[in-house]
Amino acid sequence: MNSSASAKTILFGEHAVVYGEPAIAIPLPNLRTYAEIRTDNNEFRIISENTGLNKAYNDLDPTSGIKHLIDLLISELQLDELPHATLMIRSDIPIASGLGSGAAMSVAVIREFARYFDKNLSSGEINEIAFEIEKIYHGFPSGIDNTTITYETPIIFSKSGGFSRFSADVTKLPLLIVDSGIRSRTVDAVTDVRNNYENNKKYLRLIGLLVKKAERKLKEGNLEEIGMLMNENQHLLAQIGVSCEEIDQYISIAEVNRALGSKITGAGRGGNFLVLAQNREHACELKKLYENIGLRVFL
Ligand code: MEV
Repeated sequence: MNSSASAKTILFGEHAVVYGEPAIAIPLPNLRTYAEIRTDNNEFRIISENTGLNKAYNDLDPTSGIKHLIDLLISELQLDELPHATLMIRSDIPIASGLGSGAAMSVAVIREFARYFDKNLSSGEINEIAFEIEKIYHGFPSGIDNTTITYETPIIFSKSGGFSRFSADVTKLPLLIVDSGIRSRTVDAVTDVRNNYENNKKYLRLIGLLVKKAERKLKEGNLEEIGMLMNENQHLLAQIGVSCEEIDQYISIAEVNRALGSKITGAGRGGNFLVLAQNREHACELKKLYENIGLRVFL
């Protein structure tokens, strides 16, 4: 038995969402993080295949996200002590790449603690705990990552308005998610945008206005206009300094090959970018192109 949580991708509105603007995100159910507590040890040990972590709870770095998460779970679930067991974490989600690997780890571990200790946690409670840990990772998270991942449904989200499920079927878009292979910490990009807020605020506001248009176009299913809005969103993200040379080059491959639109997803400065193809066959052609230059593509 184990527990899991999906990755997420932000279609429109990253960064601006930190400042109260709306954003649209979808879960990626086929890309997951798994957590399992196995009663097989004489101390509580945490092993994470992907990060190489293999430590007893008592030896964890006190400032680490996982230490905070376990401590928060001890208090929220009113646990007297940790069992003699191993918490195994395994993930298909690339880390530091804009797909919510941090929030997925938190949600998978929270679900596994609730399962193992036979405690009931509502989705709202899971989301709140995961948000606390996002604060440790990011500094100023909007909450969109943990919310998309906890509810595992397409959402339109804002900090003050919370979230509502997205009524259009955005999961059927001929969309490629391409990993640039460049790892970049969310906290760095978010902090730089904040440090340059006076200059960035007009672009962040424009991103917010664009998301409202994108919401309508996604509901209408108008692929060409959705693509154009992706390009505009990318342009505004570049203005606030969260694109990078390599991503700009990869995006120009999409443009030359008749993609309808492309943009980074998540914090940027590397990580993953989205490409909207004209249809499924075109998406397969573009996938091959990127794979031929050594990039990993999620369809
Ligand atoms: C990260 O996936 C999205 C950002 O907007 C940060 C956040 O909303 O917490 C860059």
